Amino acid sequence: MTMTQSIHRGEILHFPATTSNPEQNHEYLQDGILITENGLITALADAQTFLNSLSEQELSHVLPGMIHHKGLLIPGMIDSHVHYPQMEMIASYGTQLLDWLNEYTFPAEAKFCNSEYAAKQAKQFIEQLFAHGTTTASVFATVHPESVNAFFSAAEACQARMICGKVMMDRNCPDNLKDTAESGYAQTRQLIEQWHKQGRSLYAITPRFAPTSSPEQLKKAGQLAKQHPDTFIQTHLSENIQEIEWVKSLYPESPDYLGVYEKYDLVRERALFGHCIHLESREYQVLKREQAGIIFCPTSNLFIGSGLFPYFDVKDKNIPVAIASDVGAGTSLSLLTNQAEAYKILQLQKQNLNPLEALYLCTQGAADTMRLSDKIGNLNPGTEADFVELDFSALPMLSQRTKQAKSLTEKLFALMILGDDRVIRRTYVHGQCIYTRE
Ligand code: GUN
Ligand code: ZN
Repeated sequence: MTMTQSIHRGEILHFPATTSNPEQNHEYLQDGILITENGLITALADAQTFLNSLSEQELSHVLPGMIHHKGLLIPGMIDSHVHYPQMEMIASYGTQLLDWLNEYTFPAEAKFCNSEYAAKQAKQFIEQLFAHGTTTASVFATVHPESVNAFFSAAEACQARMICGKVMMDRNCPDNLKDTAESGYAQTRQLIEQWHKQGRSLYAITPRFAPTSSPEQLKKAGQLAKQHPDTFIQTHLSENIQEIEWVKSLYPESPDYLGVYEKYDLVRERALFGHCIHLESREYQVLKREQAGIIFCPTSNLFIGSGLFPYFDVKDKNIPVAIASDVGAGTSLSLLTNQAEAYKILQLQKQNLNPLEALYLCTQGAADTMRLSDKIGNLNPGTEADFVELDFSALPMLSQRTKQAKSLTEKLFALMILGDDRVIRRTYVHGQCIYTRE
């Protein structure tokens, strides 16, 4: 055994491949072995089969260092849309999107002109992600380049795979949060050069949403997206009815909201569109054609009253889709909690979201939406060793309920409805245990 090799034994669940049927296409090992080496997964196998294949001598090396997990090992979860500067104003009362931005969000984001403050917030935020079982996130910073440097520096310190971008915003916001078409372009280009594909960091070109960018700024964002085709793009789309009306008045020549982003070459693979609750049929066709991603943000959609996301319409159209927290409009960094709210949003539409499918949308499905499933989102050998241990005994009600469960699906359903950060026992990033509860 080399110094960096670790052997984990326990109950293991993941989705090895992209599928439209996660209920069937998952791999479950009641007693499994997961081996990691130098930050990568090198083997995943049934424990007995693996141990039987070893010689006496090999066994004597393997057994003493083996880590036994009482809980369930799953891939580290992926939060495909979240705002780290909004942690301080999560749970702000009484408004819907546009007033919520003006009253609470913009004042909170203005504080990130201070690099020391940004560094402290970034570190705390990443620690919170790990404590909630999330190992990768696609993160909005603020308009200040310092906020991106702070975030990637904190992510790099723990070797986490993270995506982040400087918000581009040159109108319809306070002066202290405005860039210009030129400065937004130059700063973004510099940050791409500095951070994209450095270690595990990946850059997302981040125009906040159509109302806060001039046509000139969106044009420049699209130029950057063309010049750097393997970067991500992240923004918001069709979240709130007033927002959609506003976009139509600002861009009267556009056929619809997505048409604005389309005109400026911002719709492509690895473009992640938050919300997409009220899309028109042409918008669905374009997203499908371009294989851009739709990000479903359940706690956010309920909290700021945006609407009920039509998940099965999106799925039926074969558009890549994932579940995310969208904190601070979202009310929990726990992707389990967000899965539970997704289930309720579909109940209100007389549909059922299977817990395996919900988990898929935060692991392999999210990785596929981001075109990262060769690296994260599953436990296949060759991928990066990011995984978490879930503890069903952490909560008395969950423990009592799961003892009655007759199937894996029933057990996972109870986990998703009753669980949250308290069930995360350990989080591993790049093969290292980076968080332990208690
Ligand atoms: N639309 C534009 N900015 C934001 C934001 O920060 N949060 C949400 N939920 N929607 C937005
Ligand atoms: Zn958002």
